[in-house]
Amino acid sequence: MASSSLIFSVLLVFLIATASAVGNFNQNFDITWGDGRAKILNNGQLLTLSLDKGSGSGFQSKSEYLFGKIDMQIKLVPGNSAGTVTAYYLSSQGPTHDEIDFEFLGNVSGQPYTLHTNVFSQGKGGREQQFRLWFDPTTDFHTYSILWNPQRIVFSVDGTPIREFKNLESMGVPFPKNQAMRIYSSLWNADDWATQGGRVKTDWSKAPFTASYRNFIANACVVANGKSSCTSGSSWMNQQLDTTGQSRMQWVQKNYMIYNYCTDFQRFPQGLPKECTVA
Ligand SMILES: *[C@@H]1O[C@H](CO)[C@@H](O)[C@H](O)[C@H]1NC(C)=O
Repeated sequence: MASSSLIFSVLLVFLIATASAVGNFNQNFDITWGDGRAKILNNGQLLTLSLDKGSGSGFQSKSEYLFGKIDMQIKLVPGNSAGTVTAYYLSSQGPTHDEIDFEFLGNVSGQPYTLHTNVFSQGKGGREQQFRLWFDPTTDFHTYSILWNPQRIVFSVDGTPIREFKNLESMGVPFPKNQAMRIYSSLWNADDWATQGGRVKTDWSKAPFTASYRNFIANACVVANGKSSCTSGSSWMNQQLDTTGQSRMQWVQKNYMIYNYCTDFQRFPQGLPKECTVA
């Protein structure tokens, strides 16, 4: 009995260890567009997207996930990145899709990126929150994480939570929990709106623009043929923000949040969305 439970524990530790191993881009992702502008390098350890006047580029995960804790390290387009948008998100398919978004809006040299976030549930988004970062996201890789479990979605940057979207189905707010999602990323030109409201255009003399990705880690439930790889017992399935996480998030929201749909009374003259009315 004791020895079999020991073997079981050893096996379990092994399974958890392999599940959280750094993913290989060749194994986990497909380049989906860009005609050679997206590249998987260093035996699958690095992926780069590029954008020039002809096109942007993008990739998507081979797997579909239903809940997980997903980390990606990204180094954003350096220098004059005005007009460029690097999107990194989870999304399901179809008109009533769910989506969890990070979007990085470039800027002219020396001016800050905007980190734009949104959550769509059953086809409805409009839940934008935007942030500045407390570091230059172009000089090094930083970790952008999504914790998604049945109770909440938490966006984190280098382990610091910046946004939480709670499951408030009890109040009639749909929550993404039935549709499996793929991971997508793309680098594209959005100079009609992205930088300073579209006033600053992409400087094509600086092209190609490049963003880099590494150290993808998915502790996540993979859905294939209608079946989930997950058994109960993954620690992140019930994870919530502890008091440290909550106070870190408050620090970010107080000092680095630049837009919050939940305080945009002009936009919602009939009243704020329901999820905004709870603390
Ligand atoms: C770019 O920099 C300007 C000036 O600091 C700022 O107002 C703007 O929000 C920044 N970000 C974007 C995406 O325009």
